[in-house]
Amino acid sequence: MSESFSVKQSRAWVAQRHQLYLLSNTASSLLVVASIVTAVYAGWYPGVDAPGLRRDTSPPSSINFQYAVNTGLNLQEQTSELPAPDVSFTTDNGAPYPHPYQYQRIGSNGPLLLQDYHLTELFGAFDRERIPERVVHARGAGAHGYFEVTNADFCKNYTMMDVFSENGLRTPITIRFSTVGGESGSADEARDPRGFAMKFRTRKGILDLVMNNTPVFFIRDPAKFPHFIHTQKRNPATHLKDKDMFWDYLGSNPESLYQVMRLFSDLGTPYGFRHMNGWTGHTYRWVKQDGSWVYVKLFAESMQGIQNFTNADATAIQGSNPDFATQDLYDSIQNGTYPGWTMYAQVLTPDQAQTFKYNVLDLTKDWGFDDVPPTEIGNFYLTQNPVNYFAEIEQAASHPHTWLFSYSDTQRYRLGVNHMQIPVNAPITPVANFERDGRMNINGNQGSRPNYLSTLSQIELPPRPYVDETHQQWTGGAVAALSAVNEVDFDWPRRFWQSLSEQDQQNLISNVVGHLGQAPTVSVRERMASLFAHVYPTLGQAIASGVGVQTTNLTFPDGPTWFNITINTNSSTLFY
Ligand code: HEM
Ligand SMILES: *[C@@H]1O[C@H](CO)[C@@H](O)[C@H](O)[C@H]1NC(C)=O
Ligand SMILES: *[C@@H]1O[C@H](CO)[C@@H](O)[C@H](O)[C@H]1NC(C)=O
Ligand SMILES: *[C@@H]1O[C@H](CO)[C@@H](O)[C@H](O)[C@H]1NC(C)=O
Ligand SMILES: *[C@@H]1O[C@H](CO)[C@@H](O)[C@H](O)[C@H]1NC(C)=O
Ligand SMILES: *[C@@H]1O[C@H](CO)[C@@H](O)[C@H](O)[C@H]1NC(C)=O
Ligand SMILES: *[C@@H]1O[C@H](CO)[C@@H](O)[C@H](O)[C@H]1NC(C)=O
Repeated sequence: MSESFSVKQSRAWVAQRHQLYLLSNTASSLLVVASIVTAVYAGWYPGVDAPGLRRDTSPPSSINFQYAVNTGLNLQEQTSELPAPDVSFTTDNGAPYPHPYQYQRIGSNGPLLLQDYHLTELFGAFDRERIPERVVHARGAGAHGYFEVTNADFCKNYTMMDVFSENGLRTPITIRFSTVGGESGSADEARDPRGFAMKFRTRKGILDLVMNNTPVFFIRDPAKFPHFIHTQKRNPATHLKDKDMFWDYLGSNPESLYQVMRLFSDLGTPYGFRHMNGWTGHTYRWVKQDGSWVYVKLFAESMQGIQNFTNADATAIQGSNPDFATQDLYDSIQNGTYPGWTMYAQVLTPDQAQTFKYNVLDLTKDWGFDDVPPTEIGNFYLTQNPVNYFAEIEQAASHPHTWLFSYSDTQRYRLGVNHMQIPVNAPITPVANFERDGRMNINGNQGSRPNYLSTLSQIELPPRPYVDETHQQWTGGAVAALSAVNEVDFDWPRRFWQSLSEQDQQNLISNVVGHLGQAPTVSVRERMASLFAHVYPTLGQAIASGVGVQTTNLTFPDGPTWFNITINTNSSTLFY
């Protein structure tokens, strides 16, 4: 080989060798081989000019060469969907390679050699395939489709949002459905709320709407979220789901009761993801150009109708097909039975909110369709399965603006600071701001635009259409402390219980008994049964006898927590 080297090539060779010898003498012979390989990949093989080593040292008078740096990115995106027969095998850098199983070995039976770049690249990538799963909602499935506005007149009356401003306007969406507590490989027919995360790619940037298949939630005080989630996941010692801590939390934070009752009705085991409704739960504010605003909740009604599994059927399906819901969604889209939902809005003016019977911001209270009638605003369909699940669904990152910190923080952890550049998350409008750099910055990084608020090259600042100072109007007093539990907290549990048919009531009782009955600690079962008895005596009695405890009479209001450190504990009969 060396005999055929020209002067130029041997200079490159010497330069590389020199560096390598500095690194190590003993490893040098292996590294020299590596350096040849590197040199060959870099294009410095005999007969090709290596950069900087031209014999003619005077600078060329004019070179007309420009390279569009995104060429590679664009090409990889375009070719990633080509069928296998249309592409040929390469290493990660795109260089052709003879065979996926071909590695340097010693002899036909000998060990693999770690010096083989092809081998280390394969394992280096394989070892890093997993990213952290979502801390909640880890198990999910999703698809793409569109949202179409049907009632722009109504929407424009309350909001200046462009996405709802024209009848017939179609906005591309991605939806990811999920269970909440299970790991990413857990059975997707578990008893659990279902997530319903929608990503709208609007003409004014990305709108993320996270919904659940329930109008309310277990908590109204976000600070409890990590405590709550820990109890629904695994015991730190046994690494098992733990019925004691599951019910201990719920019994000692009874603002969760309505959500608990929905969860333990057959609604807690919906038939796949297509046969359930979605609610934003949280109250949003819709604002108009003139600064006037209303409170709004959105609701998505399944065109497929509601269907649930009974507990027995859900248990069986978890065993026989732990991917039932994922498969049901995929298959239905694949065979052209596109699932659809109708979207409704419930609106309350600030004045109506002041006198509304519940705190309109309380996430444990529904507004109810009788009290605040829903108005249709549009519908949406899922028409397109992901071509690549990881790229298009696992990497989808929700940024619902209402939860200021947790979502975007977890995306920065799970996917990295530049997760908005991942294709499924990328806005379809230009992004222009002063956030720069960070790992895996792949979209040009806003080029040469100033990375500070420059007066030399000024960025346009879109005016806010309304006057900000009058926008805020804080009122308080609806609840003394977020978690103080009062009689009013039993309204919705009672309404829900009374709305159920006798069969549905029986199923709720047996679903609770089957689960709560396995909590080993008597006081945990007692307190929970007493809470159910406070909702409705027959409900509580049935559960108490099912789990082998007596109920006690409870009185409310109670303090902000069951721990004996708070206001009003002397009016409570229920101690932690
Ligand atoms: C109130 C306190 C809450 C906190 C702190 C919280 C926090 C989180 C976090 C950290 C994630 C993981 C995000 C990810 O890794 O991609 C998540 C996911 C999710 N949350 Fe919440 N959440 C809360 C309440 C809610 C409520 C009320 C809803 C629905 C009405 C909801 C719906 C969802 C959905 C659908 C997902 C899955 C998103 C996806 O599919 O990518 N969350 N939440
Ligand atoms: C517009 O909003 C006002 C105030 O809430 C309401 O009275 C009126 O009925 C609304 N009009 C439509 C078309 O929704
Ligand atoms: C689903 O469960 C809810 C709550 O138990 C019940 O009201 C409804 O009738 C059920 N629907 C079906 C189709 O099973
Ligand atoms: C399409 O798939 C869904 C889900 O598996 C199934 O329920 C439905 O019957 C199928 N429809 C057709 C026309 O094959
Ligand atoms: C509990 O409440 C019920 C119904 O209000 C009442 O009949 C009963 O006497 C009470 N029991 C105790 C121990 O206070
Ligand atoms: C709560 O505090 C009161 C007064 O300090 C005390 O008498 C009572 O025993 C405490 N209860 C519990 C459950 O610790
Ligand atoms: C505790 O109860 C007494 C009377 O029983 C009452 O006067 C007092 O205000 C209560 N304290 C609190 C913090 O509610």
